[in-house]
Amino acid sequence: MNQPIYRLYPPPYDSENLCGLYLRLKLHEQGTPDQPFVYANFLSSLDGRIALENRSGIPYLPKSLTTPHDFRLFLELEAQSDCLITHGGYLRSLGAGKLGNILQIGQREESADLLAWRIQQGLKPQPAIIIASASLDFTMPDSIREHGQTCLIATGQNADPAKVEWWRQQGYEVIFAGKDRWVEGGALVDALAERGWRSLYLIAGPDMLDAMLRDGKLSRLFQTITHQLMGGQAFRTVSPGPEYGPLGHLKLRSLYYDPSSPNDTGQWFAQFGINN
Ligand SMILES: NC(=O)c1ccc[n+]([C@@H]2O[C@H](COP(=O)([O-])OP(=O)(O)OC[C@H]3O[C@@H](n4cnc5c(N)ncnc54)[C@H](OP(=O)(O)O)[C@@H]3O)[C@@H](O)[C@H]2O)c1
Repeated sequence: MNQPIYRLYPPPYDSENLCGLYLRLKLHEQGTPDQPFVYANFLSSLDGRIALENRSGIPYLPKSLTTPHDFRLFLELEAQSDCLITHGGYLRSLGAGKLGNILQIGQREESADLLAWRIQQGLKPQPAIIIASASLDFTMPDSIREHGQTCLIATGQNADPAKVEWWRQQGYEVIFAGKDRWVEGGALVDALAERGWRSLYLIAGPDMLDAMLRDGKLSRLFQTITHQLMGGQAFRTVSPGPEYGPLGHLKLRSLYYDPSSPNDTGQWFAQFGINN
């Protein structure tokens, strides 16, 4: 984990340690009461895949995309959040044991420093959890209550009222942040801003990224690009919807080269600003 990585942009070219690279950004200090700082992180291949689909059209994250170095930076981004925005699909996968739990900070030996860092920065030990879901069909992991995390379920006005009521009876707050069944980026960010949360980390998939970008709410996009052509005829990318036009034009803020992984090929850690 302590191998150097290389800064390609901004100049000058230099070597830096991976650990601490994103903590130094202090993203939790970038938001204001009116405009929380919303950031997302994606991992893609050189040919733009973030997931492949199996024969039934079900997407999955290929193992060769993920690396310990990228995961460390993912955790550093999590450590700077007032709240994590996830979705019903992740909780279904978590409940089925298909994905690991990423809802709490510093629970592994190699990331324990991040919990101490949060406390030193004046952040709560654990971020709040926001679950975006149109279906409201998912199971809630015990870990959220065990760690005393505030947890909100966000859905649209036309969500099934019986399911909304069911979650409320379980003691969860359900907020409406969209006119139909879907959560809209603007309505969600406004609702979270009212609670005083200023750094919102989107750990959801491409649909929530789309919702934020189209409503002009995304502040920063982190993208790790591994140096592999993945191929695969059925795949997912970060942009599932219609053309973005100028909304999709991003400004590079930093670019680092990690020559060592995956499999001694390499990857870039890129950071893009949107209107900042
Ligand atoms: N490489 C990467 O960095 C990366 C990152 C993220 C995901 N992925 C992969 O990409 C594939 C697709 O991503 P995904 O399944 O995570 O996400 P997704 O397809 O964008 O969304 C999945 C679920 O999120 C909820 N959702 C999304 N947008 C919503 C909105 N506006 N309002 C309400 N609910 C909303 C819905 O849950 P309900 O069904 O409960 O309504 C939806 O079924 C997966 O294979 C995933 O592993 C890769």
